[in-house]
Amino acid sequence: MNTTKVTVKVTVIGAGNVGATCAQICAERELANEVVLLDVKEGISEGKALDLWQTAPINYYDSRLTGVTNDYSRTANSDVVVITSGLPRKPGMSRDDLISVNAGIVRQVTENVVKYSPNAIIIVVSNPLDVMTYCAYLTAKVAPSRVLGMAGVLDTARYRAFLAEALGCSPKDIQALLLGGHGDTMVPLPRYTTVSGIPVTQLIDGDKLSAIIERTKNGGGELVKLMGTSAWYAPGSAAAQMVEAILRDQKRIFPCCVKLNGEYGVKDIFLGVPVKLGREGVEQIIEIELNEAERKDFDASAKAVREVMNVFDEMKLI
Ligand code: NAI
Ligand code: 2OP
Repeated sequence: MNTTKVTVKVTVIGAGNVGATCAQICAERELANEVVLLDVKEGISEGKALDLWQTAPINYYDSRLTGVTNDYSRTANSDVVVITSGLPRKPGMSRDDLISVNAGIVRQVTENVVKYSPNAIIIVVSNPLDVMTYCAYLTAKVAPSRVLGMAGVLDTARYRAFLAEALGCSPKDIQALLLGGHGDTMVPLPRYTTVSGIPVTQLIDGDKLSAIIERTKNGGGELVKLMGTSAWYAPGSAAAQMVEAILRDQKRIFPCCVKLNGEYGVKDIFLGVPVKLGREGVEQIIEIELNEAERKDFDASAKAVREVMNVFDEMKLI
């Protein structure tokens, strides 16, 4: 009998709205034997993990959930770590203030993550997403294939949900792609959007599609307006879907924020592009052909992200 015990472990840093939702989905789908939730706030992760663990007999899973206050030794040997710690932007806070506060948090968290889990694949969720992924990469000092950001899975989910509503069809049948940064310069691609293989442009009129694209670009802001804070169900689900693709070595193709090294004509920048996700993290960056208008929008998005990366570099935090 083979008695080798294979333990798969996921850690989620930040037991706030997004982190707790991500941990819940990872546990419910039994993506790992152990799911650790860590937060700096005394008791919050212990409480949320305990509450979630008590759903196991009801929701019928046996992934063991535990919560810890800032004790990284308990996250040791994680296979995947999801970083959701960080502040949302508050009234009166400039973009630069947000970068500096969240970069301080992401840097400190990443240092501890790699100290205890040097082989983990790190998924960053904290905002501003593209630059926080860059910050985690610089701190972690690991191969770029092991540090990636979650944005495109969420942004395409919003786009697909809006399309399903407009077309009166199942969201399951909508496949879509977008590129670029996580913000209003993102580039949804109607040419790469299909409904069960049918180009979406054959099913919806141009004005309606343009309105959906604009709504997608402002999808995060729409929810902040409604709730007074940013979204968590779809963001937590999106991060968990990336965890699943990695741990189950699914080779799924998702738009993710990754380091580009000449792909799409840009270098040393973290930006959303389609990648293949498997047990090694980012296993392939897929370059698609862009027409002139798409290329122009992609370049504008890259320029906007580069500007935020420059602000971060000038702060000399790392
Ligand atoms: P939240 O405020 O509910 O949770 C953040 C948690 O991080 C808090 O519990 C806080 O105590 C914890 N934290 C702060 N500093 C920490 C540290 N040094 N170590 C460990 N934990 C620490 O916020 P929420 O809604 O969960 O959002 C988290 C982040 O994700 C924000 O930056 C938000 O803007 C971002 N976000 C990104 C999305 C994306 O598409 N990439 C989508 C939605 C949110
Ligand atoms: C979102 O897109 C604000 O990044 C956050 O919901």
